[in-house]
Order: sequence, then structure tokens, then C-alpha cells
Amino acid sequence: MAKKSSNAAIKVAPGELVTLLDYVRYALSRFNAGGVAVAHGTTDPLAEAAFIVTEALALHPDQFETFATARVTRAEGEKILKLIEARVTTRKPAAYLLNKIYMRGVPFYIDERAIVPRSFIGELLETHFDGGDASLIDDPANIGRVLDLCTGSGCLAILAAHAFPNATIDAVELSNDALAVAQRNVADHALAERIALHRGDLFAPLGKARYDLIITNPPYVDAEGMAGLPRECRHEPAMAFDGGADGLAIVRRILQGARAHLTADGGLLCEVGRGRDNLEDAFPDLPFLWLDTEESTGEVFWLPAAALPAR
Ligand SMILES: C[S@@+](CC[C@H](N)C(=O)[O-])C[C@H]1O[C@@H](n2cnc3c(N)ncnc32)[C@H](O)[C@@H]1O
Repeated sequence: MAKKSSNAAIKVAPGELVTLLDYVRYALSRFNAGGVAVAHGTTDPLAEAAFIVTEALALHPDQFETFATARVTRAEGEKILKLIEARVTTRKPAAYLLNKIYMRGVPFYIDERAIVPRSFIGELLETHFDGGDASLIDDPANIGRVLDLCTGSGCLAILAAHAFPNATIDAVELSNDALAVAQRNVADHALAERIALHRGDLFAPLGKARYDLIITNPPYVDAEGMAGLPRECRHEPAMAFDGGADGLAIVRRILQGARAHLTADGGLLCEVGRGRDNLEDAFPDLPFLWLDTEESTGEVFWLPAAALPAR
């Protein structure tokens, strides 16, 4: 039955939808009617619809405005309609349907073996680690070693390689599946000489190495959040979200272990989602500096090495 109704839904008569904009409008109507959740790299259904349309047409998302009123061929239209239907009926994020996501304008390969990149840390590397007025470091060129814990697809390690031109980066991940995706992304970006991927549990594969900067977007969803994940997120690996009963199981371990792996002037940049209150209750003496982004408030903290718990 479900199959029949989804086939019926894509019966758009030739000529009914003409321009790129028409297809985006149609996608939005289907998203709204189908109750689609948008939470993967953007919270804007319009942006996700435009991404599907431009990607199906082998255009860059930035080219959407230029071609918004351009006509779409029948074959192109069919391709777009199939993607829109797949998005609504399977509830897979567009990034999985297209095996691609842009983060801070940088393209990444992605599939269901790794969580879809969307960390706020990508933006913070540009706004707070650029050596400018709001910067937490003096000069990005002086950052020599970076650790990306819980690297998933490798997206943050790669953005860190761009942000810190002289740095080598260690990236750690527990999932072999996710590591395979990271390996592909590191190769696609020709960064194999600067980014070393390690399989293991947090700091375990690193020996006594110390870093100028630790960045991490660990699993941080609590048990209640796990039970309420939208269907879209259920296509992603559960271990990328699961932060234990209160969401802090991994974050706690990172806080306890980070200092031993930081240089004296180093620091920890860590995303915790909605875990701020729990974290401040659990560590009342830590002077968390909460950093906001365009789409988040108080979801990422910074702690200098000297403020972190000593082992
Ligand atoms: C929220 S995802 C972040 C992935 C990537 N950094 C990003 O921002 O898209 C968390 C990642 O941590 C990995 N992970 C979970 N437990 C881990 C552990 N104990 N040690 C290392 N990685 C772990 C998961 O497999 C997942 O890829």
C-alpha cells in the first residue's frame, strides 16, 4: 500500500513543474505534507530542497540563485522527483541519498556508516581560532598538533587542517565503518600526510602525545533524547549519538583525560548539545566558556588546559 501511494505522489504531469524554483517549491510542499524533519547540516527545509535540486543537476549550491528560473529537462525533472520522494518516504537525510554534504562550504563524502556532518565546531574554527579579535589563540599558524576525538567522517579533522595550515592532526574513532568514511574523505582532500586516523577508544591509541588543541564532537544524546530521535536520525549510527543515561558518559571521560594530552597553552573545544546544565551541575568548579554560533547557543565549550581536571 505504502509503495502504491508513493508512486502516485510522484505523478507530476510533464510541463507542470518547469524551473529549478518550481521543483524546490514542490519539494517543500512534499516535505511539509510528509512531516519531514530537517536537522542535517541545516535546519532549513528550503536549503535542503535547494541542495537536492542543485546536486541532482550537478550544480554547486551557490549556483542556485543564478539558475533558479532556468528550465529543467524532463530527464532531470524525473531524477529530482525521485530524490524528493525518496527523501519523504525513506526519511533518509538528503546527504545520505546524495552521498554528499557541504560543511562551511567544503564538500564531504558521506554514507550511513558515519553520522552526517553538522557540528558547530566547524564554524567556531573560523570565528574563534583565526587570530582575530574574538580568537582564543594568537596565531593559527602556531598550532602544531591537533587532536580530533570521535572524528566520524573526518569532517572536523579536515576543517582543522584548513584552519591550521602548519598542523598535523590525529583523529580517533571507535567505529571501523566511520573510519572507512573518514579515510575516503582524507584521501579526497589530499590530506593523508597531515591527518593520521586511529581506531580506538578516545585517548587510548595516542600514548603520551600532547596537542595544542583538542576538538571533539562526541556522542552526547541522553536516554530520553535517544528515545525521541526523529526518523531521519535513525538512519545514522546510534553510537554517534548515545551519550548514556544523562548524555555525559563520553564527555566526562574526555574532561578527565584531556589535560594529560594538552600542551600547557593548549585547550579543549567540545560540543555537548543540550548538555550544558547537566555538565555545569556535574563540574561546578570548571570555568566553562560557552561559545555561540549562528544556529546555537551554549552548545560548545572551551576550557584552557590549566583549567581542566588534573589526573
Ligand atoms: C557525534 S559523532 C561526531 C562525528 C564527527 N566528529 C562529526 O562532527 O560529524 C560522534 C562520533 O564518536 C564516535 N565514538 C563513539 N564512542 C567513541 C569512543 N569511545 N571513542 C572514539 N570514538 C567514539 C562515534 O562512532 C561517532 O562517529
